[in-house]
Order: sequence, then C-alpha cells, then structure tokens
Amino acid sequence: MSKELVVSKIESGTVIDHIPAGRALAVLRILGITGREGITVALVMNVESRKLGRKDIVKIGGRELTPEEVNIISAVAPTATINIVRNFEVVKKFRVSPPEVVRGRFKCKNPTCITNAPREPAVTVFHMVRKEPPLFVCAYCGRYHELSDLV
Ligand code: CTP
Ligand code: ZN
Repeated sequence: MSKELVVSKIESGTVIDHIPAGRALAVLRILGITGREGITVALVMNVESRKLGRKDIVKIGGRELTPEEVNIISAVAPTATINIVRNFEVVKKFRVSPPEVVRGRFKCKNPTCITNAPREPAVTVFHMVRKEPPLFVCAYCGRYHELSDLV
C-alpha cells in the first residue's frame, strides 16, 4: 500500500484528486455538499503530491458525479482529476474543464436581471463565450461573468 495513503480507499463513489492545497472546502461548497446528506465524505488536505507540491483530495462515497456536475469546480480547482470508483477500482478518470453551459446554480450579478426578480425569478442560464480564461454570459441579460464571479 502506498505510504501516501492517509484515508482508506473507497469501495464506490467519486474521488476528486489533485485539488490545489487548501481548496477542498471550496470544492465541497460548489458541489453543494454540506455533510448533512448522509453520504460518506472524506477530506484530505495538504498532502504531498509529486505534481502539485501539496494537494487536497475529496472522496465521496456511493455517488458517481458526472462531468456536468463537477466541471464547475474548475473555477477553484482547474487541476482536479475525477476518479469514478466501483468495487475498489478506478473505472473512469477525467480532468475537469470549464462547462459550456451552467444552469440554475449561480446568481446573475445584474440586480435588474429577470433571474433576480423578486417574484417568479427565471432559472439562470450562463453560456461560455471564451474558454481561456473562462468567460460566461447570462442568457437573459447579457451580463458577462468570469467563473470566479459565479461561484
Ligand atoms: N482511490 C480511492 N479508492 C479506490 C481507488 C482509488 O480512494 N478504491 C483514490 C486514490 O487514493 C487516489 C485516486 O483515487 O487518490 C486515484 O487513484 P489511482 O488512479 O489509483 O491513483 P494514481 O494512479 O496515483 O492517480 P493519478 O495518475 O491520477 O495521479
Ligand atoms: Zn442576467
């Protein structure tokens, strides 16, 4: 067993690896995981990494996160790798990349946008208009947002 293993392997679920050191809590916040869902979550912070110097790791038991769900963490963890684990084996591995479309998750910064209307606000939709660095436009009012404005 690797000497770097601080938290045991998981049987099934998602391991978010190579998170920049200190960002694990921000990753959980963006994913909307509070710890009150009853799912098992393991956090590893500031462990040694050959690639990053130090890194954080988040392990989520029993839940397979999709690229759509996790891509948004690229705002705080662009280096993250997502590992889907089944029966103790990594069966899928992918890097996060900024999402093309983000729906219903973040608020538009324009106070007069229809998505911020006090009654029956519309669900927000942002489209990526530039990849590097990521830039998003509100589908309703056209306001531009950097990824860091959204999260
Ligand atoms: N992992 C886990 N439980 C498992 C399998 C893997 O918690 N049953 C974790 C490992 O501890 C590691 C991550 O998932 O943090 C990726 O596992 P693996 O691909 O085996 O590790 P590496 O080859 O080191 O990954 P990479 O090449 O992405 O650095
Ligand atoms: Zn808007």
